[in-house]
Amino acid sequence: MATPDVFGPATPERFYSKTINSPRLNPSSKQTQESLKRSFARYLASDHGSSAVGKLFNPHKHLDFEPPKFVHTMEDIGYPSNNGVSPNAVSEPFRLFSEEAVDIMRSEVLNKEVQENYSYTSDIAPKQLRGYAPKHGKFIFEAWKHPETLSIISKIAGVDLVPVMDYEIGHINLSIPGEKKKYDSKTMISEEDDEPIVGWHRDSYPFVCVLMMSDTTGMVGGETALRTGTGEIKKVRGPQKGCAVVLQGRYIDHQALRAYGGQERITMVTSFRPRSPRVRDDTVLTTVRPISNLSDLYGQTVEYQLENAEARIRQMLRDIRDSMKAGATDVGAIKEFLDFEVKTLSHLNNEIVEESAVQKGHLAEVCADAAKRKRLQ
Ligand SMILES: [Fe+2]
Repeated sequence: MATPDVFGPATPERFYSKTINSPRLNPSSKQTQESLKRSFARYLASDHGSSAVGKLFNPHKHLDFEPPKFVHTMEDIGYPSNNGVSPNAVSEPFRLFSEEAVDIMRSEVLNKEVQENYSYTSDIAPKQLRGYAPKHGKFIFEAWKHPETLSIISKIAGVDLVPVMDYEIGHINLSIPGEKKKYDSKTMISEEDDEPIVGWHRDSYPFVCVLMMSDTTGMVGGETALRTGTGEIKKVRGPQKGCAVVLQGRYIDHQALRAYGGQERITMVTSFRPRSPRVRDDTVLTTVRPISNLSDLYGQTVEYQLENAEARIRQMLRDIRDSMKAGATDVGAIKEFLDFEVKTLSHLNNEIVEESAVQKGHLAEVCADAAKRKRLQ
């Protein structure tokens, strides 16, 4: 069962009359950058002291936000702007949390209990920690649920976001190399590289925020490679300690490039979905099913999707009752609603795969599918 939101329910939303199947079109990349600048300036100038929510995370002390220099739009990288749930694709790295905050997060994830009981390995990543929050990651949990953090991530993403579910808060990719690897610029974007950290793939969830938790001094590489709509490879610089990158990873083929330098590299990945239950949800569980406690993953996925369906159904009931009183039932609206619910629930049903059919740690095929898409282009 999901843990209750420590900050209480989200602001009640006034549903708009139509389901949003695609995001609002953004006029141009330049306008996007200008609008983001205005938005960030307002944010930084305002007294964003929040009410006392949670006991551990204090935004005054623990946030150290500096807006990203640039946010690449979907159009910038050759995709239609309505491809995903936002016209924004990926940000340049930006400072997000203070040194103190990252150190507290490190102490939570390096805790013995977490290392021993929440550790997963797969054929594409040697060590990942998942599902330890909030029980063993109270600070991390509060940090990613805090309205101030969500406001920052949402502005950069171009759509109002919330963490997909508690289980996906603070996923850790961990590599502590024993042997110092030599940097070779040729292998950096080689698709033949048989040892990528995580091969070509699309994420299961609409957005991710990747936070660097290690000192990257002397580290070479570690970028995220994106495959653009025209098939070219674009690299986004890896973040430094306390800095993060926001990426619409469900809709863009990407790959984490190997970092060289021999030191530990710990990144924290938190996944997000649109807050509105009326934005289409293309979430799949392909990249997480083999490395999850399925009871938690399935339970929380079904829980949030049914909550969203419940909100839509309640609104539809109100609309139907009103229209009956007025003696004017809108057949088009009813069919549109039912069609959306059937599609959404069928999609969810396909993602809930029998436990016996899930191969633990087996993710190579997911990456192979993305690589195949590239070859077919
Ligand atoms: Fe990814």
